[in-house]
Amino acid sequence: MRALTRHGPTAMASVCAAVALFSLAAYLTLDPESSRVDIRQDTPSHYPLLLVHIATSVLALCLGTLQFVPALRRGQVHRTIGRIYLFAGVFPGAVSGFCVAVLTTYGPTAQFGFGMLSVLWFVTAVQGLRAVRAGRVAEHREWMIRQYALLLAAVTLRVLLPFLIVLYSPQLDTVYGGDQETFFREVYQVVPWLCWVPNLVIAEWFLRRREATKRGPDHAPLEKIR
Ligand code: HEM
Repeated sequence: MRALTRHGPTAMASVCAAVALFSLAAYLTLDPESSRVDIRQDTPSHYPLLLVHIATSVLALCLGTLQFVPALRRGQVHRTIGRIYLFAGVFPGAVSGFCVAVLTTYGPTAQFGFGMLSVLWFVTAVQGLRAVRAGRVAEHREWMIRQYALLLAAVTLRVLLPFLIVLYSPQLDTVYGGDQETFFREVYQVVPWLCWVPNLVIAEWFLRRREATKRGPDHAPLEKIR
């Protein structure tokens, strides 16, 4: 457990940095043609909004993990990184994320999945901020764990999507007649939900378990008492 606490943030930071670099790569040219998602030709603001979303969310992804490093979690450093994380990363990332969710060309499932994620990402950040400003540090920590779990949707998505593509690839010829575009669109439908719902469930489970352990054996999960 101690090893996890010590090396966990470093491992997580490396994964997040890799995802951030991978995410940025296709957009550094500022050319809509090289975008990995379809850009609406009838909405000139789509691509700029996507760029704002990517720049601010990548910043959040890079800074988020730092907040869990014990050495940085004290005093002014934590507060300064936290403010940049929220005001330059999460808030603009969530608002622009909501806009690109509305504009996605992958249909209502993607619109609602990503839309819901952006609302929850924003709300958990506001709750975390309100809690710490009111001096409720334990509550702040809980909201920020939920917030971080939602942020990791960016990582989950980029791991899940290739995995699902490989998993369903036997159907490419049999069900989709070799049509790669239709195949990709179908596989993509589950990702806007699957990338964050399990993360939130795990975060909630972790928080409840920690709370039960803290309150002692009377409140510990049943399997521990037996
Ligand atoms: C957690 C809240 C987030 C929400 C609600 C969100 C939402 C979205 C939406 C709706 C799209 C457009 C997808 C489409 O058109 O189908 C998108 C694309 C994108 N997002 Fe996010 N996102 C979030 C977090 C992040 C983070 C933390 C990163 C950092 C790496 C990120 C990087 C990207 C990139 C690079 C794209 C373009 C697609 C690609 O090239 O993979 N997003 N996001």
